[in-house]
Amino acid sequence: VTGRSVGEPVSPGVGGDRVIGARGAPSGPPEEVRVEVPTGTGSYPVRIAPGLLRSLPTLLREHAAGHRYALISDSNVAPLHGEPLMRAMEAAGLPAILLTFPAGEAQKSREWWGRLTDRLLEEGFGRDGVVVALGGGVTGDLAGFVAATYMRGIPVVQCPTSLVAMIDASVGGKTGVDTPVGKNLVGAFHPPRVVVADPEVTATLPRQERAQGLAEAVKHGAILDRGYLDALRREAGTLLDGDPQATWRTVIRSVELKGDVVGRDEREGGLRRILNFGHTLAHALEQATGYAIPHGSAVALGMVLEARLGERLGVTAPGTAQLLAEVVQEMELPAVPPAGIDAEAMLAATRSDKKGEGGVVRYVLLRGAGEVDPGQGWVHAVPDREVLSLLRETSGA
Ligand SMILES: NC(=O)c1ccc[n+]([C@@H]2O[C@H](COP(=O)([O-])OP(=O)(O)OC[C@H]3O[C@@H](n4cnc5c(N)ncnc54)[C@H](O)[C@@H]3O)[C@@H](O)[C@H]2O)c1
Ligand SMILES: [Zn+2]
Repeated sequence: VTGRSVGEPVSPGVGGDRVIGARGAPSGPPEEVRVEVPTGTGSYPVRIAPGLLRSLPTLLREHAAGHRYALISDSNVAPLHGEPLMRAMEAAGLPAILLTFPAGEAQKSREWWGRLTDRLLEEGFGRDGVVVALGGGVTGDLAGFVAATYMRGIPVVQCPTSLVAMIDASVGGKTGVDTPVGKNLVGAFHPPRVVVADPEVTATLPRQERAQGLAEAVKHGAILDRGYLDALRREAGTLLDGDPQATWRTVIRSVELKGDVVGRDEREGGLRRILNFGHTLAHALEQATGYAIPHGSAVALGMVLEARLGERLGVTAPGTAQLLAEVVQEMELPAVPPAGIDAEAMLAATRSDKKGEGGVVRYVLLRGAGEVDPGQGWVHAVPDREVLSLLRETSGA
């Protein structure tokens, strides 16, 4: 086990040398990497190793000893990975039940939060129960929120199975559900006891779902680590093909980068905002298209547009948007808006983003690839006319 503290290694604009592959492409059985993520009250480890999920019973005994375990998983992941895990739990003598919900963002709802909570009540789970979230970001957020609220909070163990969940959603302690008014509007901070990231389980992930996760990895490179961004570009094809070693290195680097940021700013008062790069326009695009565009695709495009915005404002080095456009295209993600996007509707959507504060829309702007401009608390207030003119230009209107 390699212990790494995320207290020191990266700060915005610094990094670079510890790129994926820089620790040497591991040969033979890869070692486990452990990234410790600090929280307000302690810390939790993200443990990353191929095949690690097979050791789940041991890991649960070590990090989240409980009387009973509820594995929560969606209808795609439960048969692939949930049922084998249930057998492993039984063989290890750990009492567990498997609760399954239908896959899809539509189930990240208060209705499913209620149903799963009711199941735990019916099963007689007490405060000595433990929730194990096994799945993508939807499962992690939903099961995490069930755990956060069940009897005022019981432990949760995050076992991410999608690249989005491994690289992004399982790190940071945010849990919650969607509402008809917007996504993620009801939730809680509930850090996991441990995150068990086993890149091998992504072997069953469809290629386009891999691309969705890689969008957030590109974001980590764009805001924090130029070397990582370059490595992602070089390995794009390999990563989309699901190469286990490349996937493993990418999960490690992204978890290190995100873990460092959330460890310094758990509640999004300052530095954590940089993780929102590309997201203001991504959310606007999602809203303006009625969520027809998947999140990672929207983020890919949002990053390109926000880099172009920064270039127009003289904040971002010229050429950055073009570089990001090339990287996301390598990842089979969009770099230009779909035809017929309404610039006015998108602008209106930027104002209703929950991250807008006091009527001014703030953007995280890069100084260049791998570095965020400090601005005012890591964001810039950008006048609507600048955004509108950018959107008009890119949508060809
Ligand atoms: N809490 C956070 O900080 C945070 C951060 C980013 C995203 N999110 C949330 O995460 C969600 C998106 O996550 P997602 O893209 O993982 O969505 P998801 O959970 O719906 O997974 C995507 C699809 O892949 C399937 N899948 C997952 N793992 C698989 C595997 N190993 N093999 C085969 N199929 C598999 C799922 O069943 C689903 O159909 C959104 O709700 C978003 O809001 C949360
Ligand atoms: Zn995102």
